[in-house]
Amino acid sequence: MTNNGDRVGQGRAQGDGFDPLRVPVEGNLRDYLTDADESMADEAAARAELGKYVRTYLDDGAGVLVLAGLPADRDSGERAVSRATSLIGAPLPQNREGTLVREVKDRGMSISQRGRTRYSDSRLGGDLHTDGAEAALPAPDVFTLFCVRQSEWGGALQCLHVRDVERALEPGVVRTLREPFHFDRRGDQQPGEAPTTTKPVLFTQRGRPAITYLRSYIDQGHDHPDVPPLTVRQRTALDALDALIGSSSALLTGKLREGELALFDNLALLHGRTEFRDEPDHTRLLLRTWIRRTIEAS
Ligand SMILES: [Fe+2]
Repeated sequence: MTNNGDRVGQGRAQGDGFDPLRVPVEGNLRDYLTDADESMADEAAARAELGKYVRTYLDDGAGVLVLAGLPADRDSGERAVSRATSLIGAPLPQNREGTLVREVKDRGMSISQRGRTRYSDSRLGGDLHTDGAEAALPAPDVFTLFCVRQSEWGGALQCLHVRDVERALEPGVVRTLREPFHFDRRGDQQPGEAPTTTKPVLFTQRGRPAITYLRSYIDQGHDHPDVPPLTVRQRTALDALDALIGSSSALLTGKLREGELALFDNLALLHGRTEFRDEPDHTRLLLRTWIRRTIEAS
């Protein structure tokens, strides 16, 4: 799917698909996410409040929660995203260097390039995926995005829930997607490790249907010399998934506003964005964490 000229989500105050998922941050949770001295806030009360939202919006809802109205500067954003992460679990390293809070911004790259390039380094749209697709399972349970600066043009997020994927695909396609594929590691493997990791696209984690996907990482994974090429059956199943992604009426589209902190169920959601363009004096900047969840599911 391409997004050239797609102006979905344009305008700072325009309503969008995230509106029903937006919660103003108030009370103990706001104090805990924003106070310079976190010991002044009631951590247990903040955890209980955020846990309630996570169960309602991630476990029992669309898989997305948008905490709205936080201070938007970078330092405040890093504080809020780190503390929200600690309330629901443990931060996971996002590369072999161990980065825990990663800047998502246009680094002038494309994932069609081989090597270490990631989706989060580009400005291009499409390619719905899950985070951590280049790594072995278990995948991060949740990922967060804090919006420090948003682009005027493009940059809306798009999500598709695994229950809508499994419901729409033929049973034979679902069966094939439950078999292992080789995903390219994006050069993140340690010396001596294989350049791919093997895992199914559809699987079960924490007793719930789950998905891990980024098509070009699979295509590139099966291009490695020691890896068998995709079979016709495998390619047909992946094409069916891509066709669904490109046409599904269940696609949720919304654009984060500056000062918003969004949490996504990374096991249940494919996500992507529309292509965006930076202005020279206003470059899109999101802060991301990956989380191994410890709070209980609903
Ligand atoms: Fe992503």
